[in-house]
Parts: sequence; structure tokens; C-alpha cells
Amino acid sequence: MSSAVASAPGKLMLFGEHAVIYGYPCIVTAVDIRVTVLIRQLPANLVSISTPELPEPFEISVSGLVAANSLPAAVSFVGLAVRKFWEFTGHRFGVEVQTSDEFVDSSGLGSSSAVTVATIQALAALTGRELTNDQIFKLSFDTVLAAQRGRGSGFDVAAAVYGRTIYFQNRGEVIEPIEDIDLPLMTIYSGVKASTTQYVGHVATLYQQYRPHVERIFANIAAIVDDARQALRSGDWHELGQLMNFNQGYLQALGVSTEPLDVLVAFLRSNGAWGAKLSGAGGGDCVIGVVPPERQPDITALIKRSSGYSLIPAGLNADGVRLEPKIRNVQR
Ligand code: MEV
Repeated sequence: MSSAVASAPGKLMLFGEHAVIYGYPCIVTAVDIRVTVLIRQLPANLVSISTPELPEPFEISVSGLVAANSLPAAVSFVGLAVRKFWEFTGHRFGVEVQTSDEFVDSSGLGSSSAVTVATIQALAALTGRELTNDQIFKLSFDTVLAAQRGRGSGFDVAAAVYGRTIYFQNRGEVIEPIEDIDLPLMTIYSGVKASTTQYVGHVATLYQQYRPHVERIFANIAAIVDDARQALRSGDWHELGQLMNFNQGYLQALGVSTEPLDVLVAFLRSNGAWGAKLSGAGGGDCVIGVVPPERQPDITALIKRSSGYSLIPAGLNADGVRLEPKIRNVQR
């Protein structure tokens, strides 16, 4: 095969952020906002990577990529995925990679994991290999850890590979699908780009200084995650909203919520949401709320009139990574 195209979904963390890094469970749903990756085999000893963020393709020799200590941020996940795939197969080859995505800039919906997963799947198809989802997860998670200096729980990689809504724990030791849910969720982008590294680092410092307290917070978050799994299964949105409120309280206690996020959470609650919380590392990105369907039009209108906030129309329980029909060029 001389070319292949794959796509993978972004994610929304529903419950359990931060605690999941320390081995506790979380619940994540895959969203129907996807990254698409087109890969072509090149005859030359060359790797060429085009992304929407770069005006020109990034080019590097095969040996240069093998030896590279660092890569520009815009191509690091793709470049390291190609390198990881070469290591896995024991075979290096020239390749052209084009990526495109439907992501709202910096919304924290997991575009780096999605592009990594789609790259691995497209490389497998290009070279005629059928990888299991577990193999794609392992190769992709190793790539993401390499790109993030060992940090990350892998829940976003799992969402990109397996799709749907999943209960995830301990770097992928537990990955259990939760049957498809018709959750009345609203997702609002706060307008602030968050630094996951900064907030993960903040919690790590807190953990070192106040370990027994932070452990108790994590254990309480884990209990919320387990109850949330039940509430999702039974469709008890009132209960789920209350659990979101509790989870938000613990995220505040960890110091990762900010005033603008608290304002958005309060806005959702005072406009009829059953519950709301930040989603992701904190510091910005998105707030999610479980909102009765009859309240959603009013909230949508208010958000549209506000400055800085935007509604992210993300469908939940999206398909995981998949091969796509070939198209000539995936860039917009
Ligand atoms: C970020 O979306 C969620 C964190 O738990 C980081 C991770 O799990 O990799 C803060």
C-alpha cells in the first residue's frame, strides 16, 4: 500500500482528573471531533510532516529523526510516533505525513493523543500490519510519554484508541467500556488555554508536601468516579450532576480550578444545570455541565452573547481510531 488514512477522536474527561495520574480511576468519553492523518510512503530517505500550524512542511532525514533529541512542538507527537513505529517493526522508511483536525484551538480536547494514535494506525495500514487496539494503545502511550517527559496517565490515548465512554485506571491496566450514554452534557470553552504540565506539576508539589491529605482527596475522587459509573449506567442525571459538583469541590481543594472556571461552573448551576465541573488539568480549557435538555437553549443563547466563552458542540461516545477512505490531501 503506498498511502493510508486514519482518524482518531478527541476526549472529554468526565470524572477523576489528576487522581488518575496516581493510579486512581477516571471516566472519559471520546468526542466526535477528530484528527485525520494521511501517510504516504516516500521513495527517499526523508520524513516530511505537514500540520495546519506550520506554513511549510517540516522535513528531516530518516537518520536525523532517529537521532533527534527534540523536535518542534507542532510535529513532536507525529515525529515520535513514526520513530516508535520504526522501532516496533525494526524497519525504517521515508514517509510523508499530513495531519488535519476539527479541534477548536487549545481547547484541551486531546488533539496530541489523537494525532499520535491516528499516525500509528495509518503507519500500520501503510505497511500491511493489523494491530490490535491494545498494541495501538501501547505504542501510542509510549510515544506520548516520550513527548511529555514521562508525564501523563494515558486516559486520553485510551479514548482515542477505543472510543466510546470508558472507565480507565492505572495506565491502562483497566479499560472498561461503559455502555453508550445519552448524557445531556454541555461543554463550554473558557477562552483560556491551560498548561497541563503546570497544573500536573502543581498537584505533584502538593502531593509531596501534604501527601496524607492529597491521598484522601484522591480516594474521595475515586469513590465519586465509581458512583458516577453507576449513575451513568442508570441514567440518573440528577445524581451525576451532584457527583460533578463534589468532584469540582475536590479539584478546587487541589488548587487547579481558577476564578474564571468557578464563574463558569456557577453560571451553569444557576441556570439550571444538575451539576458542573472543570474538565481536564484545570487552569482553563473546558467546563462541563449536566444540563436538563429544556434549559440548554437558554444557556446556549447566553453563551453566544458572552465574550470569550464558546460552546463546543461535541457529540459523545465517538468511535475510536479507524481507517478512512483515501483522499488526496487531508489539509484544509
Ligand atoms: C488532563 O486532561 C488530565 C490529567 O489527569 C492529566 C492526565 O491524566 O494525563 C490532569
